[in-house]
Amino acid sequence: MLREMAEVTVWPEPETPPPYQVVARAARESDGLLCLLTDRIDADLMNAATRLRVVSNCAVGYDNIDVAAATARRIMVCNTPGVLTETTADLAWALIMSVARRIVESDRYLRAGRWKSWSPQLMLGQDIHGATLGIIGMGRIGQALARRAKGFGMQVVYADPTRKPEAEQSVGAQHVGLHDLLRRADFVSVHIPLTQETRHLIGAAELALMKPTAVLVNTARGPAVDEAALAEALREKRIFAAGLDVFETEPLTRESPLLGLENVVLLPHIGSASVATRTLMARMAAENLVAGLSGRRPPYLVNEEVLAS
Ligand code: NAP
Ligand code: GLV
Repeated sequence: MLREMAEVTVWPEPETPPPYQVVARAARESDGLLCLLTDRIDADLMNAATRLRVVSNCAVGYDNIDVAAATARRIMVCNTPGVLTETTADLAWALIMSVARRIVESDRYLRAGRWKSWSPQLMLGQDIHGATLGIIGMGRIGQALARRAKGFGMQVVYADPTRKPEAEQSVGAQHVGLHDLLRRADFVSVHIPLTQETRHLIGAAELALMKPTAVLVNTARGPAVDEAALAEALREKRIFAAGLDVFETEPLTRESPLLGLENVVLLPHIGSASVATRTLMARMAAENLVAGLSGRRPPYLVNEEVLAS
């Protein structure tokens, strides 16, 4: 699609992101950039990229891009919302189930040859059916998770600056304050964008409000949760367990205290990683870029203001 309308240069190593200077040099020589969430697109990069008109992120989250700086330079920023909603909610649900029922820990236990007999107290977890699910950020993915919870007979409470009447009607979700949610929920699932306001939204004080039997799941962005405070709460068993797809530093460093804990499941940021969804995301990112470069409004434009005359 891109090669039909432009000269295209592709970074050749899918598992090693290009160094910042390589992206910056490419941006200086380009009209458009199709980038990943691992690429930092900041003001310095855009200042030097005088030709650049479109930055198309192959992700719904765009905290890797300085959108204000892009808008000031009339650069369009695009993302891939919607197509990954259900796949990411599936992954959050998989984390809820594997953490609550200690699936990964049980698998490790069996493979290590430690299983001696059926035992009344072996690998006791937490029930999911009938429990209360707390959703922080009732947007597209939060609402998709709430629909799954309904099938398990869960009560759903949510915290969000904006009330979501459709979620309240369809799954009976109740809008509550963040602290109320943390006190009441058996499962807390984070689905907020990463912004200045949401950085470390869940810190030591918030974790202290959670039940000792509660589970925290984060498939949004690592810095939304204070990872050191979470590791401490897990180590001291002040909460039951956690399931994490995202981290403050990615890839997770070998020194992370999380790696030494049994009561956490750790995934390498694979929320949207199904063949079908990644194909749709790539297509959407390309369509956004082609539209922007052709002088049309990209279908998923983050900074509408850039089009104002
Ligand atoms: P979305 O539809 O924009 O939903 C985000 C929701 O969070 C909105 O309802 C927003 O409220 C709410 N929110 C914002 N600030 C909040 C706060 N301080 N407290 C509570 N709620 C707050 O986005 P989405 O498509 O569901 O995606 C959510 C995030 O998930 C993305 O930004 C991305 O970082 C992450 N993600 C990760 C993966 C992965 O691979 N793990 C995959 C996809 C997405 P308003 O309606 O008021 O704005
Ligand atoms: C993935 O993390 C995304 O934001 O699409």
